[in-house]
Amino acid sequence: MAIENKRTITPDTISGDELNHEIELRPKKLEEFIGQQKVIRNIELMMGSSRLRRKPIDHTLFSGPPGLGKTSLAYILSKELGVKLHSITATLVERKSDIVTLLSNLEERDILFIDEIHRLSAAIEEILYSVMEDYRLDVIIGNGVSSKVVSIDIPPFTLIGATTKSGMLSRPLRDRFIAQLSFDYYNQNELSVIVRESAKKMLLELDKDLELMVALVSRGTPRIANRILRRIRDYAVVRRVTKLRTEDIQEVLQLLGIDSLGLDDMDRKILLTIERQFRGGPVGINALSIAVSEHRETLENIYEPYLMENGFLMRTNRGRVISEKGKEYISSFS
Ligand SMILES: Nc1ncnc2c1ncn2[C@@H]1O[C@H](COP(=O)(O)OP(=O)(O)OP(=O)(O)O)[C@@H](O)[C@H]1O
Ligand SMILES: [Mg+2]
Repeated sequence: MAIENKRTITPDTISGDELNHEIELRPKKLEEFIGQQKVIRNIELMMGSSRLRRKPIDHTLFSGPPGLGKTSLAYILSKELGVKLHSITATLVERKSDIVTLLSNLEERDILFIDEIHRLSAAIEEILYSVMEDYRLDVIIGNGVSSKVVSIDIPPFTLIGATTKSGMLSRPLRDRFIAQLSFDYYNQNELSVIVRESAKKMLLELDKDLELMVALVSRGTPRIANRILRRIRDYAVVRRVTKLRTEDIQEVLQLLGIDSLGLDDMDRKILLTIERQFRGGPVGINALSIAVSEHRETLENIYEPYLMENGFLMRTNRGRVISEKGKEYISSFS
């Protein structure tokens, strides 16, 4: 099989059009949110307490791999609590005035959702410390000797931070999040239910075994399941198929370069490169990133976790090493 450097389905990059589709498929209520029991149980408790005490819920950090529902849950939370959600990505909060504007627009119990919060600059983080603790915003007005610090009261609100890299969060910022909830990959049963619900929304008719088939190759990630389903929908529309069969799904997966284990072209390229170019490893992440022409972050966030969880790859302190299972897998197609 030819291994080319083409981008297949990864859950981290979303174009504008896809974003609209994501919003369509996004669960809107807590009861529509499948799985993540541990996170949900905490959220329910915090919501209940917030309602009874008439206070905002505690500042909360959502962490976990891309596409597992962090943003969706933040939106659901604001809806369930009947408060406004102000959403921003950390990379867009460049100047101090940006965060000051965001904070000044908050009303009592609103949620400020900062995505990719590990990317905030140190200066912005520092502003957040006193805001998170005392709902007090300290701003310096003027320059030099005539400058003075003015404190502005911010109405009690909730900061929800989302991150795929909680390890990159600075200690003082992380400590100010009272609740720290981590999202795990979904199991096959949960993913099957997500596939069923999304298929319904796309008016696709899928049997139970086909739902499971999609679930099995979705890498534990709802966003990937939804993307595969959209391609299945395209196929059904173009081929005028009303009742999808196993062969149809197989054809779509083949088009997407996804095999029965859920591995795609980039996974295969990674394993082949380690085995052939680096004699099975160990190889450092930077060298690997150059060899397969993929960003280091994407390798670390998307590909490696799945390859490691499924025993194809191991991470040692000297670098990545292919496993016996990985070698067997490679020999099955090359
Ligand atoms: N628990 C769930 N139940 C149903 N659908 C879900 C669930 N979690 C995620 N999804 C689907 O997956 C899509 C991606 O989820 P979302 O954008 O919330 O992920 P994320 O964790 O914020 O990802 P990122 O880290 O890339 O920002 C959503 O649009 C939604 O359709
Ligand atoms: Mg998100």
